[in-house]
This record gives sequence, structure tokens and C-alpha cells, in this order.
Amino acid sequence: MNDLVTIRDRFREVNGEHPMTEADDAYAREHFRPATADQLADIAVGRLPLPAYVLSDGTPVVADISEVLAAAGGVAELHDWFVEFWPGDPATAEFEWDTFLSGQYVCLRTLDPITIRRRAVLLDQAQAAVDALRADPRDELAQGSLAEAVDGGLSVAGLDELLLPMTAYDRLRFGGPTVRDLWVDMVRAEFHDPQPPPLPLRTKRLTLRRVVLEDAPVRARAWTHPDFVRYLLHPERVAAETTFETYRHCQPPPEGPHRFLGLVMEHEGEPVGNVVLFFQGAGVATAEMGWTLYPWAAGKGLATEAATELLRVAFEHYGVRRVVANLDAENQRSAALAERLGMRRESHKLADFWSKGRWTDSYEYAILRGEWEAQHCAESAPDSSRGTPAG
Ligand SMILES: CC(C)(COP(=O)(O)OP(=O)(O)OC[C@H]1O[C@@H](n2cnc3c(N)ncnc32)[C@H](O)[C@@H]1OP(=O)(O)O)[C@@H](O)C(=O)NCCC(=O)NCCS
Repeated sequence: MNDLVTIRDRFREVNGEHPMTEADDAYAREHFRPATADQLADIAVGRLPLPAYVLSDGTPVVADISEVLAAAGGVAELHDWFVEFWPGDPATAEFEWDTFLSGQYVCLRTLDPITIRRRAVLLDQAQAAVDALRADPRDELAQGSLAEAVDGGLSVAGLDELLLPMTAYDRLRFGGPTVRDLWVDMVRAEFHDPQPPPLPLRTKRLTLRRVVLEDAPVRARAWTHPDFVRYLLHPERVAAETTFETYRHCQPPPEGPHRFLGLVMEHEGEPVGNVVLFFQGAGVATAEMGWTLYPWAAGKGLATEAATELLRVAFEHYGVRRVVANLDAENQRSAALAERLGMRRESHKLADFWSKGRWTDSYEYAILRGEWEAQHCAESAPDSSRGTPAG
């Protein structure tokens, strides 16, 4: 009982006096566990971290550090084991030990010295990248660095994986947004949330606009055409399917970040095809581009004209650093289009792709922002197909 009183008093000294709501209690119960009597005894004498939270009924809850204790060899060995993670830097080691003991690393999904170190490194990395991107939003190193800090990389955790959401109580005790609010949610909203350009876009012969329900009959003609679907992922569709798909495409986009721009190419008042961008990869700094032209509109350069404009939008408006196109290697017209756009064939994968009843090869084409800019600077005459946003 005395341990409990001591611990609650010390907890209040460190965190201040703030109400725990029902939601705070539920959150704390979900991510932490009530301290055992043995743990309370060690917490009271400062050998284990103070509770992460004290629930509104007075129950102290703690992070599960059983693995840390087992690796350290026990509570008595914990300090010496812990500080070894900061070799040659005793000041930081002791600072981190004190913070660990204060119970204030409640933002961490896993409370251990590796994660504590990683958090500090990633926060510094994210701060430096944010500063650089505020000065120059096209800074490619900062884009990569921020993406790694927030989203992680292959087999490497980022802040998103490390940090818990935390609670309203935390905003009170820490006096502002939580570390996750600041370094995951707000960073994503500022840097990883591409917004569509003003639409429609116009080129010399085309209007690039969102799909409307009235497009359904023309789209249905294309989707029942075997030449049109031969190299697409989807099979032929009956008219009712295309009409229903068109209806779906006309609905407001789903909640959540904008990850897809799909536009109808309209020529002389009629839809003649589509161009699309999918944003992906680290910091959504890559866009995959796709194109389809209805068979009766082929051979006039309309797909090239639309895709040229979309490439401009990808680099100039969205600021991506790389645009890719993946295609069935048998789709020679599509490969020719990628090459007309100045894209480079980066891979020819043999029989890697199951499509329409066979294993087929695939190509990946790509163009980097620097390459695209060099091509455009090299053009002495103004690009006749380049459009301007309307609206
Ligand atoms: C891939 C696809 C879009 C290519 O269409 P396309 O008609 O070859 O492309 P364009 O509209 O850019 O037209 C280019 C052709 O028009 C000619 N052309 C005429 N006027 C032109 C102009 N002003 N500018 C450029 N090209 C012009 C070009 O010489 C070229 O002809 P060629 O292939 O005989 O040399 C089309 O085949 C298609 O949609 N197929 C079905 C769906 C599909 O497979 N999509 C791709 C999935 S990866």
C-alpha cells in the first residue's frame, strides 16, 4: 500500500495533475498492463520505470519490459546493461536512463534501448528533412530521408511503426501534440498528401477531365472490344458492368489520402481513352502511369498527347521524382508510347506475369525528374501539346 502511495505521488510530480477520461483508461489498458506487486516494489525504490499511466481508479499500468529484464539478467543489472547502448557517451546514456525510469517513453510501442535510440535518430532525421523540404520541396535527398524516417524502409522500422497513438491525457501532460501527431500525422499531411491539380487539363486536342456517367456507353463499346482488353489486367466487360464501373468512378473519392488520379481523354466532345497516375513508394514520390485509348481513336498521337501532359503534371504539380510504367512485353504499341515519352526500359522480366491464361514477360519503363527536365530544357520550340490547367 505504501508503495502505491509513493508511486502515485511520484507519478503526479513527474506528470502533473490531469484527468484520465474513460477513453484514456481504455487506451492505457489496451497498450499497458497493471503493475504486479513485485514491480511496484521495484518502481517505488527507483529500479524500474514509473508507471506509464495511473488509471482513473488509481491502478498503475506499465509497459511490458520482460524481454529487456531477461536480456539484462535481472532488475539489479538493468542500469549497467541499459547504458551500454550509448558507448562513449555517458551523459546521453544517463539522460536516457532517467527518461526511461521516469516512465515517460509512453510513445513507444516497444520499450527497450534499441527503440529508444532509433526514435532519437529518426526524430533528428525527420527534423532535418522537414527543414530542408520547407526550404526546397523538390529536395530529393530530403524526400527519401523523410520517407524513411516516417514510413521506414525494407526491414527497417520508421516512426509510424515505433510510435503509439497516445491519448488526450498525454496531450495534457506533455502540453501539446503527441510525438506521433507531430512526426507522423502532421508530417504526412504536409509532405505526403498529394492534392489533385485544378481540372480539367487542356492540351492542343484534348480535355483531360474526371469521368462522368454519360461516358458509360462509349466506355462500354471499348470494354467489349477484344483488342482493347488484350493486354489489360481486366477481362472484357459486358455493357452493364462498364456502366456500373462508370457509376463507381463518378462517386466522391474515398476518405483518406489522394493516391490516384484518373482522367478521361476527351477529343471533339467524346471520350477516347483514359490516363491514370498511382502514387506509391517512399514519401509517395513515385507515380505509376497508365494509358488506354479506345481502338477507333488510335494512331493519331492522342495517347502521346495525354500522357505527355500527365507526365508534366506528375513532375511539375505533384513533384514526384520518378514515373514508371509497367506493361505486358507483347504490348508493342504501349512500349512505343513509353519510348515516345522519353521513358527508359529498365527491366525486361521473363515470364514473370500471369495474364489472360499465359505467363508473359513484362517491361518496366521509367523516367526520373532530372531526365524529364533535361528533355524539356533541350526543346527549343515551345511544346505544342502542352496544356494549361483550367479552373
Ligand atoms: C497503348 C495505346 C494507348 C497506344 O495507342 P497509339 O494509338 O499507338 O498511341 P498514340 O495515340 O500516341 O498514337 C501514336 C501513333 O499515331 C501516329 N501519330 C499521328 N499523328 C500523331 C501526332 N500528332 N503525334 C504523335 N503521333 C502521331 C504515330 O506515328 C503513331 O503511329 P505508329 O504507331 O503507326 O507509329 C493503345 O494501343 C491502347 O490503348 N491499347 C489498348 C489498351 C492498352 O493496352 N493500354 C496499355 C496498357 S499497358
